Amino acid sequence: MENKEIVIRSENVSRKFGDRSILNGISLEVYRGETFVIMGGSGCGKSTLLRHLIGALKPDSGKVYLLGKELSGLSEGEMDMIKKKIGMCYQSAALFDSMTVGDNVSLPLREHTKLDKSVIDIVVKMKLELVGLRGFEDLMPSQLSGGMRKRVGLARAIVMDPEIIFYDEPTAGLDPIVAGVIDKLILDLSKKLSITSVVVTHDMKSVFSIADRVAMLYEGKVLEVGSPDEIKNSSNPMIRQFIAGSPDGPIKFFQQKDDYLEHLIK
Ligand SMILES: Nc1ncnc2c1ncn2[C@@H]1O[C@H](COP(=O)(O)OP(=O)(O)O)[C@@H](O)[C@H]1O
Ligand SMILES: [Mg+2]
Repeated sequence: MENKEIVIRSENVSRKFGDRSILNGISLEVYRGETFVIMGGSGCGKSTLLRHLIGALKPDSGKVYLLGKELSGLSEGEMDMIKKKIGMCYQSAALFDSMTVGDNVSLPLREHTKLDKSVIDIVVKMKLELVGLRGFEDLMPSQLSGGMRKRVGLARAIVMDPEIIFYDEPTAGLDPIVAGVIDKLILDLSKKLSITSVVVTHDMKSVFSIADRVAMLYEGKVLEVGSPDEIKNSSNPMIRQFIAGSPDGPIKFFQQKDDYLEHLIK
């Protein structure tokens, strides 16, 4: 990519919960238009990092720049402006079960714009069509499969035409075929809408099918950032173990309660 415009930058972001360090000096950059994947095991801090990148949590130290603005210095009004330019797809699709699919998707428009209902209806139709759910407006979330619910969540995330979409484990809990459909959709949307995507996942298949660049996170630190090929060929033993899904290697699995508790306190 020539002339890379940086749309997200984190500088040395650290965060503790209680006396546990969850993020330990995270520095990374995301370029406009790319699909940037943050991979790592359960509990390594992926969701926490994502919440810092969107300004939902504040770091104890370090800085986050989103679309050129340093987040800690923003007024509520400025933060609202930025929030309108980003879309978030949560791990659980986070739909309101008492609302129709259409009302779920249109919620951000009804909350943040003064568009007429007729215009909103058209936008909702278009977004549902983009995620392959044409004509699904009147169904209730309970009538949908897990993969369809994720797609509704995705339609809602793009309803305000965001510049960046953040995905937290978009394929978690889906069978491999549906996971493949979601991966393809993430790629399609990033191309069709020339959107920047930040995807948090531990699904290796998804990493290598969607990423332009990958950051490997381990115990709140970035071990390496590179293209999928560079990560595949990494000489870092932790990355090799993670990719191979091997129980043997430097990444430890706790079988003794005392070892685990000691690890937590560290
Ligand atoms: N609000 C919180 N308060 C205390 N601990 C938290 C909080 N959020 C996350 N954690 C802890 O931080 C660690 C990282 O969590 P998370 O970012 O959700 O990991 P991941 O998304 O990689 O699975 C976990 O051990 C989790 O229990
Ligand atoms: Mg998570």
